[in-house]
Amino acid sequence: MSEGSRIPGFYKLSLEARRKVVSERAGIDLGELEHALEQGGLDTATADKVVENVLGIYGLPFGVALNVRVNGVDRLVPMVVEEPSVIAAASNAARMVRHSGGFRAEVVESLMIGQVQITDVEHPGAAVATLEAAAPRLLELATKAVPNLIARGGGPRAIDVRDLGQRCIVLHVLVDCRDAMGANLVNTIAEALGPLVAELAGGKLGLRILSNLCDRRRVHATCRVHARELVTAPRSGRGELAPSSERSAELDGLEVVDAIVAASRFAELDPYRAATHNKGIMNGIDAVVLATGNDFRAVEAGAHAYAARSGRYAPLAVWRRDGEDLVGELELPLALGIVGGTLRVHPTARLALKMLALESADELSMVAASVGLASNLSALRALATEGIQRGHMSLHARSVASAAGALGDEVELVAARIAGAGVITVEAAERALGELRALTL
Ligand code: MEV
Repeated sequence: MSEGSRIPGFYKLSLEARRKVVSERAGIDLGELEHALEQGGLDTATADKVVENVLGIYGLPFGVALNVRVNGVDRLVPMVVEEPSVIAAASNAARMVRHSGGFRAEVVESLMIGQVQITDVEHPGAAVATLEAAAPRLLELATKAVPNLIARGGGPRAIDVRDLGQRCIVLHVLVDCRDAMGANLVNTIAEALGPLVAELAGGKLGLRILSNLCDRRRVHATCRVHARELVTAPRSGRGELAPSSERSAELDGLEVVDAIVAASRFAELDPYRAATHNKGIMNGIDAVVLATGNDFRAVEAGAHAYAARSGRYAPLAVWRRDGEDLVGELELPLALGIVGGTLRVHPTARLALKMLALESADELSMVAASVGLASNLSALRALATEGIQRGHMSLHARSVASAAGALGDEVELVAARIAGAGVITVEAAERALGELRALTL
């Protein structure tokens, strides 16, 4: 599937034609694809069994990011997101990156952490030593708690104990959850260990729950983009970056590389900027996490806790110049599953996984991180050059045009008209649509 995620002109196709192309590229039966996307995939009767007090279903757009190549493999990446421009931005950045071979990614370890808290410990130092010495026995007990995971080749791998002070200690059990996100598995193990841990520590049993700061299940993604990919228009001939008031379509590639590196440094220096920089990364990651039926709250909690691990909130991705290339690097904890959980009930999440053609949860993490890096690149490129609003507004104009009743080709024409006039309202779109239809009568 070497060119499998490259589909020029895809956005111009009708929705039906896009479904057909994706079904062909992904080798998924068109009927199955359509069925999985009907009504957001979930019926009310099923939803009623998933959570409580159900009244209905809440829909979100399901799209696909193109051009994504990770470790030499093309992926059609499903994204669920309500924000215009996120999918287009990720696809554009992925196209630039694929000219240098695509994203490289790896999963650094793959262990979830279960915590057992013990309070009122009389002798914390001795308790830590006793628990460390009892690690083999504790691991054996943990193993018995999850026979199905053991059968799949996973299971508890190590025990770590820390004295937190104030007569409180915490035991970590590190668990290889294979292709599951692992929350239930880890919680089962933590609960199974609890009473013995309290007894050995000579304290009172506290919480038994996974940690969402799963920093032993991290994903690392990198990419390289040549300056020529970042050119926003023909060379200006100017040596320096223009003042922001003049920054329009006139930056050459190396100027853009330097401006993106400066934007990265800004995030490294300032937590206020780092939060927004990371939000741009999570635009891509969350959309993949949601599409594949994974727990986005867990992913968000882990990402931001990891970003603050030094005691100062920092960017998850940084960008540097290497000769004429821009090089980006992202690392974050990511606990994703491709079995169990929402996938049991949600046909659209199952379809998303099928589109991705994954063999493991680790592969999903690598794709999600790559899309995060792509989203970050696109946002920084726009911010460092013409600003974010122009691109946002032209995409926003398309949804406003649709809301005003524009159909097919009318959408682009009406959107261009209202974006050009700088008045992006439903009323303006209705007027533009009326004028357009009058002309074509
Ligand atoms: C908007 O959803 C995301 C950005 O604010 C990210 C950023 O500032 O880097 C554009």
